[in-house]
Formats: sequence, structure tokens, C-alpha cells
Amino acid sequence: MADQDQGASNDVNQTETTTSSTTTKSTTKKSKSKGAAAATDVVDGNSSTTAEHTITSQTGSIQEMLKKITLAEQASAALTNRSAPKSDEEAASRQEWKFWHTQPVPTIGTKIASENNGPVEENKPIEELKQDPYKLPDGFSWDDIDVMDDEQLKELYVLLNENYVEDDDNMFRFDYSMGFLRWALCAPGWLRKWHAAVRVTKSRKMVGFISAVPIRMKVYDKEVSMVEINFLCVHKKLRLKRMAPVLIKEITRRVNLEGIFQAVYTAGVVLPGIVSKCRYWHRSLNVKKLLAVQFSHLSRNMTVQRMQKLHRLPEATQIKGFREMRHSDIPRAFALLTQYLKKFDLSPVFTQEEFEYLCQNRPNIVSSFVVEQENGELTDFISYYHLSSTIMNHPQYKTLNACYMYYHAASRTPLCDLVNDCLVQAHKDGFDVFNALDLMDNKEFLEKLKFGVGDGNLQYYIYNWKCPQMNPEKIALLLQ
Ligand SMILES: CC(C)(COP(=O)(O)OP(=O)(O)OC[C@H]1O[C@@H](n2cnc3c(N)ncnc32)[C@H](O)[C@@H]1OP(=O)(O)O)[C@@H](O)C(=O)NCCC(=O)NCCS
Repeated sequence: MADQDQGASNDVNQTETTTSSTTTKSTTKKSKSKGAAAATDVVDGNSSTTAEHTITSQTGSIQEMLKKITLAEQASAALTNRSAPKSDEEAASRQEWKFWHTQPVPTIGTKIASENNGPVEENKPIEELKQDPYKLPDGFSWDDIDVMDDEQLKELYVLLNENYVEDDDNMFRFDYSMGFLRWALCAPGWLRKWHAAVRVTKSRKMVGFISAVPIRMKVYDKEVSMVEINFLCVHKKLRLKRMAPVLIKEITRRVNLEGIFQAVYTAGVVLPGIVSKCRYWHRSLNVKKLLAVQFSHLSRNMTVQRMQKLHRLPEATQIKGFREMRHSDIPRAFALLTQYLKKFDLSPVFTQEEFEYLCQNRPNIVSSFVVEQENGELTDFISYYHLSSTIMNHPQYKTLNACYMYYHAASRTPLCDLVNDCLVQAHKDGFDVFNALDLMDNKEFLEKLKFGVGDGNLQYYIYNWKCPQMNPEKIALLLQ
């Protein structure tokens, strides 16, 4: 018994030094998770082969069509080969930024004084805005997709499933389920024209996408109506051909026409106008699988058994009164979150309707919990979303089940305890890994709860806004 205790305590001590040295992977933008169940609903076995075949048979003509693109920026960028994503800020400062330098964003390295927190450009009257869509190369056309239609949603699902964000070593790719996409794209106030796809005109194949949904944001002491931009994607066969700037300009035009001139977005790549640089951390739940698929690696002097022991979690949650959030809890949980968000410099300003939409329990999409005290008082709220990744080229494992810490507000329970119960819950629910950013007060628990630091940053940006940069601790915005 004494020996066992000794062993355990050595392991725990080791954790303090090994969690940070245990390497874990991040996809470059966010992390991944959730349900094989939701994903298999929409993958009909043939879909990827069919898509691959279709695009392959079309590649010749698409390449031909793209050669004809006359955008001036394409020509100059091709000459200087500036298109590849940038991950390092120093290198980024030397880039030419053919597109981004034409946009209302601060140049890399510019220091902005706090009294200058505000738009780069003034809002334009609607009549001064471009009324017709940006021109696409011959053979491509715009299509506002109807995500309420299962067929169209499935097309988007396939585009992203095959072409969206991958980690630097191309081992994992986000696998947003159809249900998740519909949820993320239809936040209160959503518009169909903000779900902009590019199709090959002849075959109707979807080869590009970008989206916006409305969000009210607080940036330091100012509140601004913005959109959040997400799911920018160009088919792999059409990369580095300046399609992304056209998508970005077109969504900007459509958003401007609704009287909105700011947008918030995140990216794994470094671009001009960084507001904050955050980092993903990963808490192993299924150690063996994460090692097998090389999501994590053993650090020196570590064995699989010891690592499993280090990451073992209790069978049941520990906090008295910790339970799933119910519909009737929403007003109180909303009040807790609203109060908590006030202390940050970049945070959403939700209505109760938005909070309910985003944070209520949705099977295979969002899990939310509260702590109810004995007297019935609700004191704490925490949530995570489910987002799996496809594991590319692994003989045994096809899906990495991950969840991502989402909004939370702890008024009585220590954050560390609250997150620990979330880990217990996520482990019970079969997730392989629990991901969290180093923003808000998350540094309080990351090392203590044995999260390992990931290998990718997540930059936060605001389009048409200048403000001093923020430390991750001042960021309280979580995009999906
Ligand atoms: C991101 C993506 C659409 C860029 O397309 P691309 O074919 O690689 O690049 P293009 O030739 O069309 O455009 C290049 C321009 O887009 C910019 N760009 C690249 N990635 C970007 C991003 N994530 N957000 C905004 N701009 C980006 C480049 O910096 C470049 O502009 P510059 O001339 O000012 O440097 C494409 O790589 C893709 O679909 N990747 C997988 C999904 C993904 O990472 N999405 C972004 C999530 S944040």
C-alpha cells in the first residue's frame, strides 16, 4: 500500500513537469471532436470517392478556367509566390500581403494607442457600396446555399470534410457534422445570403465557401454590431489561385450592404491586424488512442501505463449539485455569463435568446452543465462543443472524438473543480481529448488538470478595427 502511494505521488509530481513537455497536436485553426454518430449520418461510404472522381474529371477544365482569371492581384502574387499561409509573425512582417494590404486592417507590428480603439474606415452609405457580386472566373458562379435543405447542407459538409482545416502535418482534418454546421450557421439573425458558396457552373460542384453570422461585440469600452466570419474554404484543387480574396471581398460586400462594417474572425495563420494570439491546450482522455494516432507523444522517461495513470479520472463527477443544464436554468445561467463576460476586453454581448441558442444542450453538438446549490441557487455554468476530426491514413482509427471548452461562468465553485467535472463527463461520454484555449481565466486550470500545450496558435482578428493588442487572458470570445 505504502509503495503504491509512493508511486502515485511520484507520478503526480512528474505531471507537473511532464504535462508541459508532453507534446500534443493542434490543427492550425482550432481543435476537433465529437460524434462518429453524427458524421456517419452523412457520409454514405461513396461520397468521398465520388467527390474525388468528380473533381478529378473536372480538374483539367477548372485549371484551364482558372488560368483565365484576370484579377490583377493574382498575377502579381503568382510572381512573388506570396500566397502560402504564414505561421510566424516575424516572417509575416516581411510578407507583401498583396490582398490584406488593400484591406482596412492595421499592418503587422503597428502599435495602437488605447485612445484609438475604433474603426479603420468610416461606415459607407449603402448607395456608395458595390451593388453587384464580385466577378468569379469564367466557369464558376455564386450560390447562396440553403442550409435548411439537407442535400445542400450535405454538399457543404462534404466540401469541408475533404478540404477544411488540417494540422501542419496533415494527419487530422476537422470533421464538422451536418447538425453542427446548421447550428453554427444559423445563430439568431442569420441570413441565407451570408452562406456564400462557389460552384462550378456546369457541374454545380461546390468548390468554395465562406459564412457570416451576426454578433454584438465589446472591444475594450466600445460595443459594436459585427459578424463573425467562419468556414472559409477553397477546394484543394483550386488552392493558391486567389480565390480566397474574392470570397472575403464578397462576404464583406454582403455584410456591408446590411449596414455592418466590422467582422471578428480567427485563424491559425498570422495575418495583418492581430488582436490576440491564443494557444490551444489538450487534455488526454483516451491516452492509448491519442498515442496510437500520434496526436500525442510520450515524453522522455514516460511509459504508456504511467501516462494512463496520470490522466486517470474519477468515474463520477465530484461537485455536489453538478448536473446537465435544463431549459429552466437558462435565465440564471445567462445572468451568470453576462456578469462574467464584463471583465474581458474582447467579449460577445449576448441576448438571452442568443445564449439559449448557443449554450443549451444539443445532442452531439453542445453539452452544458450547471452547479445547483442545496437551496436551489444556480451558481456556476460550463459548456463544451463537440467537433471530431478525421484521422487521415490510420489503419485502425478513423475519427478523433474531441470536445472544446466553450462558454462558462463560475461564481462559487473553483474553475479548476468545474472543469475537472467537465473532463469526467467528457470521458464518460467517450471523447478522446478535451481542448481548451489559454484565454479567459483558463490558465488557472490548464497545468493543474494536466492539459498539454498544443503546437498551434489561434489568432483573433477584427476586420476594419484598430486597437491595442490583448493578452489571451482578456479574450472571452469562442468561435466554433
Ligand atoms: C484558407 C484558404 C481558403 C486560402 O486559400 P488559398 O487557395 O490557400 O489562397 P488564395 O490564393 O486563394 O489567397 C491567398 C490570400 O489569402 C490569404 N489567406 C490565407 N489563409 C487565410 C485565412 N485563413 N484567412 C484570411 N486570409 C487568408 C493569404 O494571406 C493571401 O493573401 P495575401 O496576398 O494578402 O497574403 C485555403 O487554404 C483553405 O481552404 N484552407 C483550408 C481551410 C482553412 O484553413 N480555412 C481557414 C480557416 S481560418
